[in-house]
Amino acid sequence: MSELLYTPIVLGDLELKNRVVMAPMTRSRAPGNLANELMATYYGQRSEAGLIVTEGTAPAADGLGYARIPGLFNSEHARGWRGVTEAAHAGGARIFVQLMHTGRVGHPLNLPPGAEVRGPSPVALAGAMYTDQEGPQPHPVPRELSEVDIAAAIEGYARSAGLAREAGFDGVELHGANGYLIDQY
Ligand SMILES: Cc1cc2nc3c(=O)[nH]c(=O)nc-3n(C[C@H](O)[C@H](O)[C@H](O)COP(=O)(O)O)c2cc1C
Repeated sequence: MSELLYTPIVLGDLELKNRVVMAPMTRSRAPGNLANELMATYYGQRSEAGLIVTEGTAPAADGLGYARIPGLFNSEHARGWRGVTEAAHAGGARIFVQLMHTGRVGHPLNLPPGAEVRGPSPVALAGAMYTDQEGPQPHPVPRELSEVDIAAAIEGYARSAGLAREAGFDGVELHGANGYLIDQY
């Protein structure tokens, strides 16, 4: 069994050096929502895996609902992630970015200026969201996305996937569970 785990495998057009896949795990280590050197070190240290899936990463400003999670929706973000993909590739791993739009799971204090908590319906999630400024705070009532907003959100995912390519990722994973935007629909 363990011998098989350490043998290469071809997945689609991707060759993995082994069958160990690192699950996506939010680390909240991206002040300003930018992937950074600490993150490059962290992922580089885990490049013994055949495939790494990054922590959930927002494809839009409204999707940055947790404190200090990274984004991938502009070229500065892509440059930050480039350091991470280079560190993973240097160790022989392949790396996918997980695109995660938090939808109504968020708090305005965690969002950059101009962004807002949005969701399919104006119904607040029960419970609280951690914020750096004021600790746990009740989830707000999200602003409902219109059909135009939904089209823009989809476009945001597509743009983010293009930036992922620029950043050197080998693929993207769409987070469609755990109550985030896609799951909310
Ligand atoms: C600290 C932490 C952060 C996580 N963040 C994410 C995430 O960003 N995206 C995601 O899809 N799953 C996330 N998960 C879930 C894990 O990817 C995984 O599915 C979960 O730990 C169950 O895996 P296991 O059955 O191997 O323990 C997170 C889990 C932990 C422990």
